[in-house]
Amino acid sequence: MSLIIDNLKEAINGETNAKIKYELFAEQAEKENYSEIAHLFRAISSAESIHIKNHIQAIAKITNSEVNANEIVKTNEEELKKQVQDTRNNLIQAIAGETFEFKKMYKSFIKDAKKGDLYLAEFSFDLARKAEIVHSKLYIAYLKKLDKKENIEPIDIYVCTICGNVELRKAPKTCPNCDHEQKFFKKVD
Ligand SMILES: [Fe+2]
Ligand SMILES: [Fe+2]
Repeated sequence: MSLIIDNLKEAINGETNAKIKYELFAEQAEKENYSEIAHLFRAISSAESIHIKNHIQAIAKITNSEVNANEIVKTNEEELKKQVQDTRNNLIQAIAGETFEFKKMYKSFIKDAKKGDLYLAEFSFDLARKAEIVHSKLYIAYLKKLDKKENIEPIDIYVCTICGNVELRKAPKTCPNCDHEQKFFKKVD
Protein backbone atom coordinates (compact mmCIF):
# COMPACT_ATOMS: atom_id res chain seq x y z
CA MET A 1 0.00 0.00 0.00
CA SER A 2 2.79 2.48 0.80
CA LEU A 3 4.01 2.37 -2.81
CA ILE A 4 0.56 3.34 -4.05
CA ILE A 5 0.26 6.16 -1.50
CA ASP A 6 3.69 7.38 -2.62
CA ASN A 7 2.46 7.27 -6.23
CA LEU A 8 -0.62 9.31 -5.30
CA LYS A 9 1.65 11.84 -3.58
CA GLU A 10 3.95 12.00 -6.59
CA ALA A 11 0.94 12.59 -8.83
CA ILE A 12 -0.35 15.37 -6.54
CA ASN A 13 3.06 16.99 -6.65
CA GLY A 14 3.33 16.71 -10.44
CA GLU A 15 -0.18 18.00 -11.02
CA THR A 16 0.37 20.95 -8.68
CA ASN A 17 3.52 21.98 -10.48
CA ALA A 18 1.79 21.61 -13.84
CA LYS A 19 -1.12 23.68 -12.60
CA ILE A 20 1.14 26.56 -11.50
CA LYS A 21 3.19 26.34 -14.67
CA TYR A 22 0.09 26.60 -16.86
CA GLU A 23 -0.99 29.72 -14.97
CA LEU A 24 2.41 31.25 -15.69
CA PHE A 25 2.16 30.13 -19.34
CA ALA A 26 -1.26 31.82 -19.53
CA GLU A 27 0.26 35.10 -18.32
CA GLN A 28 3.02 34.79 -20.92
CA ALA A 29 0.48 34.07 -23.69
CA GLU A 30 -1.48 37.19 -22.69
CA LYS A 31 1.73 39.22 -22.97
CA GLU A 32 2.16 37.93 -26.51
CA ASN A 33 -1.48 38.72 -27.31
CA TYR A 34 -2.46 35.07 -27.69
CA SER A 35 -5.53 35.46 -25.54
CA GLU A 36 -7.16 32.18 -26.62
CA ILE A 37 -4.01 30.19 -25.93
CA ALA A 38 -3.98 31.86 -22.50
CA HIS A 39 -7.62 30.78 -22.13
CA LEU A 40 -6.68 27.15 -22.87
CA PHE A 41 -3.78 27.24 -20.38
CA ARG A 42 -6.14 28.57 -17.70
CA ALA A 43 -8.74 25.89 -18.45
CA ILE A 44 -6.23 23.05 -18.30
CA SER A 45 -4.69 24.54 -15.17
CA SER A 46 -8.08 24.38 -13.50
CA ALA A 47 -8.51 20.79 -14.77
CA GLU A 48 -5.31 19.79 -12.96
CA SER A 49 -6.91 21.04 -9.71
CA ILE A 50 -9.58 18.38 -10.16
CA HIS A 51 -6.91 15.66 -10.37
CA ILE A 52 -5.21 17.02 -7.26
CA LYS A 53 -8.52 17.00 -5.38
CA ASN A 54 -9.33 13.44 -6.51
CA HIS A 55 -5.90 12.09 -5.57
CA ILE A 56 -6.07 13.77 -2.14
CA GLN A 57 -9.51 12.25 -1.56
CA ALA A 58 -8.17 8.85 -2.58
CA ILE A 59 -5.36 9.05 0.01
CA ALA A 60 -7.82 10.22 2.67
CA LYS A 61 -10.18 7.33 1.98
CA ILE A 62 -7.47 4.68 1.71
CA THR A 63 -5.66 5.76 4.87
CA ASN A 64 -8.81 6.88 6.64
CA SER A 65 -7.13 10.07 7.76
CA GLU A 66 -6.98 13.78 6.99
CA VAL A 67 -4.56 14.81 4.27
CA ASN A 68 -2.62 18.04 4.32
CA ALA A 69 -1.68 18.86 0.72
CA ASN A 70 0.97 21.34 1.91
CA GLU A 71 2.94 18.47 3.41
CA ILE A 72 2.90 16.62 0.10
CA VAL A 73 3.59 19.35 -2.41
CA LYS A 74 7.02 20.70 -3.17
CA THR A 75 6.88 23.73 -5.42
CA ASN A 76 9.36 26.43 -6.05
CA GLU A 77 7.66 29.23 -7.91
CA GLU A 78 10.97 30.90 -8.74
CA GLU A 79 12.17 27.68 -10.39
CA LEU A 80 8.91 27.35 -12.29
CA LYS A 81 9.14 30.95 -13.48
CA LYS A 82 12.54 30.13 -14.99
CA GLN A 83 10.87 27.47 -17.13
CA VAL A 84 8.59 30.00 -18.81
CA GLN A 85 9.67 30.55 -22.41
CA ASP A 86 7.80 32.00 -25.37
CA THR A 87 4.30 30.69 -25.97
CA ARG A 88 5.28 28.31 -28.76
CA ASN A 89 7.88 26.64 -26.54
CA ASN A 90 5.53 26.70 -23.56
CA LEU A 91 3.03 24.72 -25.63
CA ILE A 92 5.74 22.23 -26.57
CA GLN A 93 6.73 21.92 -22.90
CA ALA A 94 3.09 21.38 -21.92
CA ILE A 95 2.64 18.68 -24.57
CA ALA A 96 5.77 16.91 -23.30
CA GLY A 97 4.48 17.06 -19.72
CA GLU A 98 1.03 15.74 -20.56
CA THR A 99 2.49 12.99 -22.75
CA PHE A 100 4.83 11.87 -19.98
CA GLU A 101 1.91 11.73 -17.57
CA PHE A 102 -0.41 9.65 -19.71
CA LYS A 103 2.18 7.44 -21.44
CA LYS A 104 4.53 6.77 -18.53
CA MET A 105 3.58 8.04 -15.08
CA TYR A 106 -0.12 7.21 -14.86
CA LYS A 107 0.35 4.00 -16.83
CA SER A 108 2.79 2.62 -14.26
CA PHE A 109 0.77 3.99 -11.31
CA ILE A 110 -2.34 2.23 -12.62
CA LYS A 111 -0.39 -1.03 -12.87
CA ASP A 112 0.83 -0.71 -9.26
CA ALA A 113 -2.67 0.12 -8.00
CA LYS A 114 -4.13 -2.88 -9.85
CA LYS A 115 -1.51 -5.19 -8.35
CA GLY A 116 -2.20 -3.78 -4.90
CA ASP A 117 -5.92 -4.17 -5.47
CA LEU A 118 -6.46 -0.51 -4.57
CA TYR A 119 -9.44 0.38 -6.70
CA LEU A 120 -9.78 3.93 -5.34
CA ALA A 121 -6.26 4.83 -6.40
CA GLU A 122 -6.60 3.05 -9.74
CA PHE A 123 -9.82 4.95 -10.48
CA SER A 124 -8.29 8.33 -9.63
CA PHE A 125 -5.22 7.61 -11.79
CA ASP A 126 -7.33 6.35 -14.67
CA LEU A 127 -9.62 9.39 -14.70
CA ALA A 128 -6.62 11.70 -14.67
CA ARG A 129 -4.84 9.74 -17.38
CA LYS A 130 -7.81 9.99 -19.74
CA ALA A 131 -8.03 13.73 -19.16
CA GLU A 132 -4.29 14.18 -19.82
CA ILE A 133 -4.76 12.59 -23.24
CA VAL A 134 -7.38 15.25 -24.03
CA HIS A 135 -5.14 18.01 -22.65
CA SER A 136 -2.24 16.94 -24.84
CA LYS A 137 -4.47 16.79 -27.96
CA LEU A 138 -5.76 20.30 -27.30
CA TYR A 139 -2.27 21.71 -26.81
CA ILE A 140 -1.15 20.02 -30.05
CA ALA A 141 -4.16 21.48 -31.92
CA TYR A 142 -3.40 24.99 -30.64
CA LEU A 143 0.30 24.65 -31.45
CA LYS A 144 -0.65 23.75 -35.03
CA LYS A 145 -2.87 26.81 -35.26
CA LEU A 146 -0.06 28.97 -33.93
CA ASP A 147 2.42 27.56 -36.44
CA LYS A 148 -0.01 28.11 -39.30
CA LYS A 149 -0.56 31.65 -38.00
CA GLU A 150 -4.26 30.83 -37.89
CA ASN A 151 -6.43 33.27 -36.00
CA ILE A 152 -7.84 31.50 -32.93
CA GLU A 153 -11.43 32.66 -32.48
CA PRO A 154 -12.63 33.24 -28.92
CA ILE A 155 -14.63 30.19 -27.84
CA ASP A 156 -16.15 28.86 -24.66
CA ILE A 157 -14.09 26.26 -22.81
CA TYR A 158 -15.60 23.86 -20.27
CA VAL A 159 -13.93 21.72 -17.63
CA CYS A 160 -15.53 18.62 -16.13
CA THR A 161 -15.36 19.15 -12.38
CA ILE A 162 -15.40 15.39 -11.78
CA CYS A 163 -12.51 14.25 -13.97
CA GLY A 164 -10.75 17.31 -15.45
CA ASN A 165 -11.80 16.61 -19.03
CA VAL A 166 -11.75 19.76 -21.19
CA GLU A 167 -14.30 20.43 -23.93
CA LEU A 168 -14.36 23.28 -26.44
CA ARG A 169 -17.42 25.33 -27.47
CA LYS A 170 -20.04 23.47 -25.45
CA ALA A 171 -20.34 20.99 -22.65
CA PRO A 172 -21.43 17.54 -23.88
CA LYS A 173 -24.59 15.90 -22.51
CA THR A 174 -22.42 13.45 -20.62
CA CYS A 175 -18.69 13.56 -20.06
CA PRO A 176 -16.95 11.04 -22.37
CA ASN A 177 -14.32 10.44 -19.66
CA CYS A 178 -16.37 9.90 -16.54
CA ASP A 179 -20.00 9.67 -17.68
CA HIS A 180 -21.17 12.49 -15.46
CA GLU A 181 -23.92 14.79 -16.71
CA GLN A 182 -23.54 18.17 -18.38
CA LYS A 183 -24.28 20.04 -15.15
CA PHE A 184 -20.89 19.01 -13.78
CA PHE A 185 -19.08 21.04 -16.44
CA LYS A 186 -17.89 24.50 -15.51
CA LYS A 187 -17.14 27.26 -18.01
CA VAL A 188 -13.65 28.72 -17.67
CA ASP A 189 -13.10 32.45 -18.27
FE1 LIG B 1 -3.16 17.73 -17.83
FE1 LIG C 1 -15.73 14.06 -16.60
